[in-house]
Amino acid sequence: MLRPAPAAAKHPAMLRALLLLLLFPPLAAAAHHHLHAAGDGVVISQADYQGLQAIKHDLFDPYGFLRSWNDTGLAACSGAWAGIKCVQGNVVAITLPWRGLAGRLSERIGQLTQLRRLSLHDNAVAGPIPTSLGFLPDLRGVYLFNNRFSAAIPASIGNCVALQSFDASNNLLTGAVPPSVANSTRLMRLNLSHNSISGDIPPEVASSPSLVFLDLSHNKLSGHIPDAFAGSKAPSTSLKEAITGSYRLVFLDLSHNSLDGPIPDSLPGLSKLQVVDLAGNKINGTIPEKLGSLADLKTLDLSGNALTGEIPTSLSNLTTTLQAFNVSNNNLSGVVPASLAQKFGPSSFAGNIQLCGYSASAPCPAAPSPAPSATASPAQVVGTARRRRFSPKEFALIIVGIVVGALILLAFCCLLLCFLTTKKGSGAGSGKQTTTTTKKAGDGGGAAEVESGGEVGGKLVHLDGPMAFTADDLLCATAEIMGKSTYGTVYKATLEDGSLVAVKRLREKITKGHKDFEAEAAVLGKIRHPNLLPLRAYYLGPKGEKLLVLDLMPNGSLSAFLHGRAPNTPINWETRMTIAKGTARGLAFLHDDVSIVHGNLTSSNVLLDDNTNPKIADFGLSRLMTPAANSSVLAAAGALGYRAPELSKLKKASAKTDVYSLGVIILELLTGKPPADTTDGMDLPQWVASIVKEEWTSEVFDLELMRGADAGPAGDELVDTLKLALHCVDPSPSVRPDAREVLRQLEQIRPGPSEEDSAGHVANE
Ligand SMILES: *[C@@H]1O[C@H](CO)[C@@H](O)[C@H](O)[C@H]1NC(C)=O
Ligand SMILES: *[C@@H]1O[C@H](CO)[C@@H](O)[C@H](O)[C@H]1NC(C)=O
Ligand SMILES: *[C@@H]1O[C@H](CO)[C@@H](O)[C@H](O)[C@H]1NC(C)=O
Ligand SMILES: *[C@@H]1O[C@H](CO)[C@@H](O)[C@H](O)[C@H]1NC(C)=O
Ligand SMILES: *[C@@H]1O[C@H](CO)[C@@H](O)[C@H](O)[C@H]1NC(C)=O
Ligand SMILES: *[C@@H]1O[C@H](CO)[C@@H](O)[C@H](O)[C@H]1NC(C)=O
Ligand SMILES: *[C@@H]1O[C@H](CO)[C@@H](O)[C@H](O)[C@H]1NC(C)=O
Repeated sequence: MLRPAPAAAKHPAMLRALLLLLLFPPLAAAAHHHLHAAGDGVVISQADYQGLQAIKHDLFDPYGFLRSWNDTGLAACSGAWAGIKCVQGNVVAITLPWRGLAGRLSERIGQLTQLRRLSLHDNAVAGPIPTSLGFLPDLRGVYLFNNRFSAAIPASIGNCVALQSFDASNNLLTGAVPPSVANSTRLMRLNLSHNSISGDIPPEVASSPSLVFLDLSHNKLSGHIPDAFAGSKAPSTSLKEAITGSYRLVFLDLSHNSLDGPIPDSLPGLSKLQVVDLAGNKINGTIPEKLGSLADLKTLDLSGNALTGEIPTSLSNLTTTLQAFNVSNNNLSGVVPASLAQKFGPSSFAGNIQLCGYSASAPCPAAPSPAPSATASPAQVVGTARRRRFSPKEFALIIVGIVVGALILLAFCCLLLCFLTTKKGSGAGSGKQTTTTTKKAGDGGGAAEVESGGEVGGKLVHLDGPMAFTADDLLCATAEIMGKSTYGTVYKATLEDGSLVAVKRLREKITKGHKDFEAEAAVLGKIRHPNLLPLRAYYLGPKGEKLLVLDLMPNGSLSAFLHGRAPNTPINWETRMTIAKGTARGLAFLHDDVSIVHGNLTSSNVLLDDNTNPKIADFGLSRLMTPAANSSVLAAAGALGYRAPELSKLKKASAKTDVYSLGVIILELLTGKPPADTTDGMDLPQWVASIVKEEWTSEVFDLELMRGADAGPAGDELVDTLKLALHCVDPSPSVRPDAREVLRQLEQIRPGPSEEDSAGHVANE
């Protein structure tokens, strides 16, 4: 049952195309404007084909990776051309990192008009970055780091309205940062570090409301840091934004340039900042007091500048969150706030001649008691020291006092730390700050692939083994709310490569802790059945966010299909029976094969694929949630009309209460009525029972079914199905059949494509 789907079957389109090619080779030869090829069907457009030829021509390929770009282009989109991915015969991705490529990148890349992702990092490609990238409106990710690109970044890049990530770090780029890069309102990550870029930082870049990561470190930038950091909101588009509120700069690295002037006042307005690195510039003025309000700040490096004044006491507010702090080699003065001095070593403060109180070798001249007030100017501090001299005895006592005090504090800190770390083990917030690395999860026996969540932190676990997206891809996906429920919100997310997934964000407060959650998710992630919606991956965010990644079902829910359709779009009996049988089959598998009670089966949780085959969603979700959450879900199910009567007392779902819900769904299919839409204060089962009792049975059925169109019900099919459904919604749980029996009877009522066919579906999963 946990059989992994064969790799090729994951790309039915590819199979189709291969078949096409095998069956109709002459078609391919006859191609005129388009070259027929395997792949997603089809054809690589002439323009894309020529564009790729030109790119190959201009690159130097010492290891022959591009040898597969050989023939007439027939195979260009089939997967046979290294690093090429197409959609509908257009190249959408070029992915050739670490291939030893040199030469230049042809301007004719501009012909690949559908290109979304260009990844050539870690090669030795030289020459300018093509201006024609600006012709690519769909370009989302450009990864050119660790190459030998030179000259200026083309201003045309600002035309790439879809651009989300541009990383040309560690090249030989010169010229200025083009202000137009900020024209792309989706740009989240800009990394131009380790180049020779000069000039000012454009205020447009600082004020970009979409940027999350800005790394301009190790360049030759000069002038003031623009005082233009904006706190305004970006358009609500990405999953990340949907989750974290708004885009805001989280990572700012301007270190090792020649920037001067003050730290801009607008900088502390970026309330989500986690990393601020301004080291190795010529920044002067004082450290803004307001930096102390950056509650998420983990790294603050201001070392190697010309800062003056004191370290504001407000920074001691950050002591617990700060993991790295460095103000060494400036011209700071006064007393280091005690909590900072305790947490960070002398090398964080050294090289400030007038700074004191951070190490034994830099004692403050003033008496430790009363502690020098933070507002005392260095002159005052020095002044008091001059006025009063200690006797050697007093001095010795003070030293002893300090040492003992420090020891006690140290012991206390150790204790606290031990306490916290043991407590934290099961708690949230253990997000890692590591960069994207992948490793196989040894445990669990599955092919789960774990990936740390990119720069944002967090952890992505692919339950099907490697999947096409990374945590960053997921968070950068454009998102649209599909629905909300007690457990959380469901988004339709479009990944960078254009693929669609459903993402369910569980409400943190009612979700189990990390450890339990992961254990349960691993179990749910192994469940595969053609009538159950598979859980593909989950993501744990650094702040405890929990996302489930599921297949997106193009036809939406049964509820919408049945009750939300346009007039004159009848649903025939065959389709309704397929849905009833599939739902029963999925439920029977849940109960019998994996011993899971659904607990919240409704027509909104039955999703329909392209062929209106049902897939049950949200099964086992209750295992990820706290008991309190589950009882409120039961209450909601009651209001919707799917809850078995005994649940109002028992509050514990069972296989029998699931069968009740299944019965309600079958009644929905028969009557075309939503269960909550009650007439005369009766719920759907009661209403149906009352009519049947008065022997107007035919009145209950959806009128469409009575018209006897093709694929209509034959003989007693309707009445037999109605009897079965009423049996399922019997008030007495013991009378209700089990799901397997419901399935058996449905198949008896209308034999049809069933087991063999569903086995076929497994293969197509
Ligand atoms: C093209 O390259 C592929 C892979 O290197 C090779 O299998 C195929 O035979 C080549 N085709 C031609 C026509 O050279
Ligand atoms: C960027 O936008 C500004 C106005 O917002 C416009 O003047 C400029 O031409 C644009 N640049 C590019 C390269 O699109
Ligand atoms: C920027 O690029 C450099 C060098 O490639 C890398 O070390 C750094 O982590 C990158 N920064 C961001 C924010 O991606
Ligand atoms: C900072 O340096 C600039 C010259 O680089 C100077 O004009 C300015 O007055 C300095 N500001 C402070 C506060 O020292
Ligand atoms: C720092 O914390 C103190 C209280 O501990 C508070 O009064 C002050 O406003 C905080 N400073 C900033 C800049 O947030
Ligand atoms: C440090 O600041 C003092 C005044 O506070 C000034 O006299 C001195 O020149 C400065 N030193 C450097 C290296 O900037
Ligand atoms: C602080 O920065 C200086 C360089 O200015 C470096 O030598 C020192 O190791 C850094 N200290 C810490 C704790 O990072």
